[in-house]
Amino acid sequence: MSVFITFEGIEGSGKSSVIAAIGKFLSEQNCPALQTREPGGTELGQEIRRILLQTTPAPCHLAELLLFAADRAQHIAQVIRPALDSGTVVLSDRYADSTLAYQGYGRGVSLELLSRLHTIATADLAPDMTLLLDLPVQTGLERAALRRGEDQASWTRFEAETLEFHEAVRNGFLVLAQKNPQRFRVINASQPLTDVINEATSHVEALIKLTANSR
Ligand SMILES: Nc1ncnc2c1ncn2[C@@H]1O[C@H](COP(=O)(O)OP(=O)(O)OP(=O)(O)O)[C@@H](O)[C@H]1O
Ligand SMILES: [Mg+2]
Repeated sequence: MSVFITFEGIEGSGKSSVIAAIGKFLSEQNCPALQTREPGGTELGQEIRRILLQTTPAPCHLAELLLFAADRAQHIAQVIRPALDSGTVVLSDRYADSTLAYQGYGRGVSLELLSRLHTIATADLAPDMTLLLDLPVQTGLERAALRRGEDQASWTRFEAETLEFHEAVRNGFLVLAQKNPQRFRVINASQPLTDVINEATSHVEALIKLTANSR
């Protein structure tokens, strides 16, 4: 079944944990899903991810934006489109809403420019559903820092940004959800992980039933 679901939220909101649980749930339902992520869902994307997170001095805002766009174009061409065309459910850890939230609401890049770039980079490929894991910035950053203790390589440049930046990103995601209520499902990610996973699973199950019935 061709369904495209994206997972969005600030650092430490639980995207990777939830996507793994949904992937497991779907494979148990005999509905295997492809799990992927941005940036870094392809070989080119891995290189771009490394550049984005590690190069010093940091890329300027426009260069950062264009690198994310290149990552996404390759991700769609090599991974997302072929999977959707072959009737697979695609679960992506971050997608275009992250660009709007981080570069637009966070960095202040014009939303109009981002929308034009989105059309170029993605040919307007939109998710069928977006699960937004929402939680206070402080909680998310504390979780990300704890996880970093276990895995030094997971440090990202964005985690080092100011609290104000992360607040702007969180609010940006919430504005996007308000603007697109038919596509977004907002989940309170400060709940225990099992509750977050249960809520996310019921949204995914509902969408998949709906899609199956409409065919
Ligand atoms: N609801 C939760 N309650 C408590 N801890 C959680 C919850 N969700 C996730 N965690 C823990 O918080 C840490 C970050 O979770 P995870 O890596 O899934 O977040 P993420 O959104 O993928 O972060 P990033 O954007 O940095 O990749 C992990 O150690 C995870 O086990
Ligand atoms: Mg993650």
